[in-house]
Amino acid sequence: MTKTTHTITPDAGRRSFLRSLGALAGSAAILSTAPWLASCTADKQAAVAGQKARIGLIGTGSRGQYHLHNLKNIPHADLVALCDINPAHLDEAKAIYPDAKTYTDHRALLDDPDVDGVIIASPLGSHAAITLDALDAGKHVFCEKAMALTLDECKEVYDRYLNCDNVLYYCMQRMFDEKYVRGVQLINDGLIGDVVGMRCHWFRNADWRRDCPDPSLERLINWRLYRETSGGLMTELASHQLEVCGWVTGKMPSKILGTGDLIHWKNDAREVYDTVNVIYKYDDGRTISYESLISNKFNGMEDQILGSRGTMNLATGLYYLEDDDTRSGIKQLLSSVRDNVFSAIPAAGPSWRPETADAYVPHSILDGVTHVNHGQSTVGVDHDGSEEILSAFCQACITGERAANVVEEAYSATTLCLLGNLAMETGTTIDFPDQYKIPYMKF
Ligand SMILES: NC(=O)c1ccc[n+]([C@@H]2O[C@H](COP(=O)([O-])OP(=O)(O)OC[C@H]3O[C@@H](n4cnc5c(N)ncnc54)[C@H](O)[C@@H]3O)[C@@H](O)[C@H]2O)c1
Repeated sequence: MTKTTHTITPDAGRRSFLRSLGALAGSAAILSTAPWLASCTADKQAAVAGQKARIGLIGTGSRGQYHLHNLKNIPHADLVALCDINPAHLDEAKAIYPDAKTYTDHRALLDDPDVDGVIIASPLGSHAAITLDALDAGKHVFCEKAMALTLDECKEVYDRYLNCDNVLYYCMQRMFDEKYVRGVQLINDGLIGDVVGMRCHWFRNADWRRDCPDPSLERLINWRLYRETSGGLMTELASHQLEVCGWVTGKMPSKILGTGDLIHWKNDAREVYDTVNVIYKYDDGRTISYESLISNKFNGMEDQILGSRGTMNLATGLYYLEDDDTRSGIKQLLSSVRDNVFSAIPAAGPSWRPETADAYVPHSILDGVTHVNHGQSTVGVDHDGSEEILSAFCQACITGERAANVVEEAYSATTLCLLGNLAMETGTTIDFPDQYKIPYMKF
């Protein structure tokens, strides 16, 4: 069992996981924790040196432009084509890559023989259709998180993937985020004892609305707010966090129940909930407690893995041990005084004593480095694995090598998001439907 006792220092600056990815992927322990990194070993990185994957981007909005900037840091990538149905966004992207060809129909870009692989960063409602078109056109595909808007679409895409040879990635970037990879490995090593439950939340205080220059563009620009294009907080935020829960447990929950509502941002025509609470229950009794709202940011964003001997907060890069001998002398003294007081009260007895988080000392997962995400935005956040997973995809466009489990993890997480929405909409407890189970899923 590994136990580190690093002190917390401010982030020392950009530490490129991309550069250390090869070394990390060379470790057998890491590969058993994150088998998808096998495609990124130093040998395999060296094998693509001097070559370039020719990439087309479909959807040149906020996330698409973020990927464009990341592509400039990836030596084995060459952005050759851009596509968007909104000319304003296409122009912005063209300003970043002036030499790229431009298209307004994704099928025309897919016909371009100079494109090896595509990034799909369009709204969720279009993910499945464009992914299927791209696979059929023989392109490698990197699609943004949440695979599709419906369970049937997820299954159709997964089946098509099984029946072709193309590479398919989903941008579940936590899978390539060093603090998550190392944190999950510490969990597997037994640092926090038995995993007894998971608590994930994402709180923001913002309306999720984007400025719209023309009312006719409302549904195109504010696609996140409407059910024909978006699964709301579950697909936009929970998808990442539920993927991590599946990764940590290696299992899928079999029952889903929840409640969601529109309680604050009611003064527009939006259709998606601004508040969601979903419980995912495993056959062995454990639960994932998921909560998100966009009208209060006090709690920020956390992915807490609760263990019998400690808690791993993967999002903040910190862990806490239940019996921690690294507590400061004064804290130990206060705690022992408190313990004496409470054990001296007969009515209270040892089963009733204050158990507060301030008794815990935070330890850093990465040596001396914390990357705290306060939940306000993931776009543009450094160190979140986005650049690394994109780099791995570009490498795969050259080698044709698929990464283990990436599609299966995305499929598992997306089905949980969509079933969470279904549970909230119907007010019922949902049993994971047999027709959407895939062999990868263990219940
Ligand atoms: N992995 C992450 O952390 C992360 C973060 C943010 C967004 N995303 C995902 O990225 C995707 C885009 O989100 P965004 O915030 O950039 O949205 P956005 O609205 O800023 O950009 C989407 C772009 O797609 C274009 N578009 C719509 N339909 C199209 C079509 N049929 N063909 C070509 N272009 C089309 C739009 O005009 C727009 O420019 C979503 O799937 C979202 O969930 C992922």
